Amino acid sequence: MTRSSITVTVALGLCAAIGACNLAAVSELDADNPVRPDPPLPYGMEEFFAGAAPLNPERVRLGRWLFFDRRLSADETVSCATCHRPEHAFSEPAPAATGIRGQRGRRRTPGIINLGAPTMLDFDGPERDPPLAFFWDGRATSLEAQVLMPIADPHEMGLEHGAMVSRLESIAGYRPYFEKAFGSREITKDKVAAAIAEYVRSRRSGNAPYDRWAYGRDGRAMSAEAQRGSEIFFFTGQCAMCHAGFNFTDGGFGNLGIGWDESTQSFRDEGRAAVTGNPRDRGKFKTPGLRDVADRPPYMHDGSLTTLREVVEFYNRGGIRNPLQTRRLRPLGLSEADIDAVVSFLRALSGEGYEDTPPRVFPK
Ligand code: HEC
Ligand code: HEC
Repeated sequence: MTRSSITVTVALGLCAAIGACNLAAVSELDADNPVRPDPPLPYGMEEFFAGAAPLNPERVRLGRWLFFDRRLSADETVSCATCHRPEHAFSEPAPAATGIRGQRGRRRTPGIINLGAPTMLDFDGPERDPPLAFFWDGRATSLEAQVLMPIADPHEMGLEHGAMVSRLESIAGYRPYFEKAFGSREITKDKVAAAIAEYVRSRRSGNAPYDRWAYGRDGRAMSAEAQRGSEIFFFTGQCAMCHAGFNFTDGGFGNLGIGWDESTQSFRDEGRAAVTGNPRDRGKFKTPGLRDVADRPPYMHDGSLTTLREVVEFYNRGGIRNPLQTRRLRPLGLSEADIDAVVSFLRALSGEGYEDTPPRVFPK
C-alpha cells in the first residue's frame, strides 16, 4: 500500500466513523422518543373519544420534545413540564405557578388530561359560553391558541413567538422532525402550536376504578363507600350538574365564591368577567375536569383548598356566599360519613394512560 492510499483509507475510515456517530446521535434520539402508533384508548374512553380525530404520531413525538424543552423559555430554565409535571397528573403541587426568574403567577396550574375530546354536555342553554374554552377564565378558544400563550407570557416562559421560532431554527436537529411531522423543514409558530397541542391531546386517562365499575367490566372495582359516594355525586349532591361527562366538566363557568373578599365586597380575581366584559361573570371560573383529581392537589383556581375532604366540606357549607354566586349551590347537609364517601368516589377517578417521563435527550 502506498503512503497516499493509506491516508485515503484512514480518511474514509474516519468519515465512516463520523457518519456512524451522526447516525448514532439520530438513532439515540429516535430510540429515546420513538414515533408511537396512537395507542388504544384507555378503558371507558372509547365512546367519548369516538368523535375526536386520530392523533398524528409524528406530531405527538415532536410535541413531546417541545413540551419538555426548556429552550422554549427566554432564559432556558422553564418548560411546559416545569409547571405541568407528569408526576402530579400534569399539574403543580402549589397554589400559584412559578415562571422564569422565580415570578409568581396568580393562579394554580391545572391538569391537562383528556383535553382532546369534545365537551359534549350543555346544561346552560343559550347562555352557554363557547364550547371550547381553555384557562380558568376560558380566554383561549382552541388548544392551539392556548399552548402558544404561556411561551410568550412574560411571567411564564417569556419568549416572544418570533424569538421562539428563531431559537428553534438555530437548533439544526429539530428541522428533520418538523419535516417528518409537517412535510417541510420550515419552522413556524403555528407548527409549534400544532405539535404541542397534539402532544397535549395524547394525554388521555381512563380505566379508573370508576370506569371499570360504571362500564361493567368489574362491579367490585369501586368500594361500597365509593359507590355510595357516586350516588351523592350524581344525585343528592348534584355535583354532576356541572361536573358532567367523561371528564366530569360541562366546560362552563361557575362562581362558587372562591376568592371573594367579604371585607372589600370584591373578588381577588375577576375570572371570566375579564374575558367577556360582563360584570355578572365576576368570580366565575371554568369547571375543572375531575379525572385524576386526587393526584393533583391543591384545589380551585387559587389552590386555596388543600385536600379533597376540604373541597367536599366547602360544598357541604354551600360554597362562599356572594352576590353573584351560582344559584345551584346550597348547603348539602352531608354527614361526616357522606363526606368520606364522596372523597372515596373522587379518588376512584384516578386512571391511567396519560403518564409520561421527560425525554432523556433533545435535538441539538
Ligand atoms: C409557569 C407555569 C406554567 C408554564 C411554564 C406553562 N403553564 Fe400551562 N398553565 C399554567 C397555569 C397557571 C394555567 C392556568 C392559567 C389561567 O387560567 O389563567 C395553565 C393553563 C394551561 C392549559 C389550560 C387547561 C384547561 O383546562 O383550561 C393548558 C392546556 C396548558 N396550560 C398547557 C401548557 C403548555 C402546552 C405549556 C408550554 C407551552 C404550558 N402550559 C406552560 C401554568 C403554566
Ligand atoms: C355550579 C357548578 C358546580 C357544582 C354543582 C359543583 N362544582 Fe365542583 N367546581 C365547579 C367550579 C366552577 C370549580 C372551580 C372553582 C374555582 O376555582 O373558583 C369547581 C372545582 C371543584 C374541584 C376542584 C378541582 C380542581 O382541579 O381544582 C373539585 C374536586 C370539585 N369541584 C368537586 C365537586 C363536588 C364533589 C361537587 C358536589 C358536592 C361539586 N364539585 C359541585 C363547579 C361546580
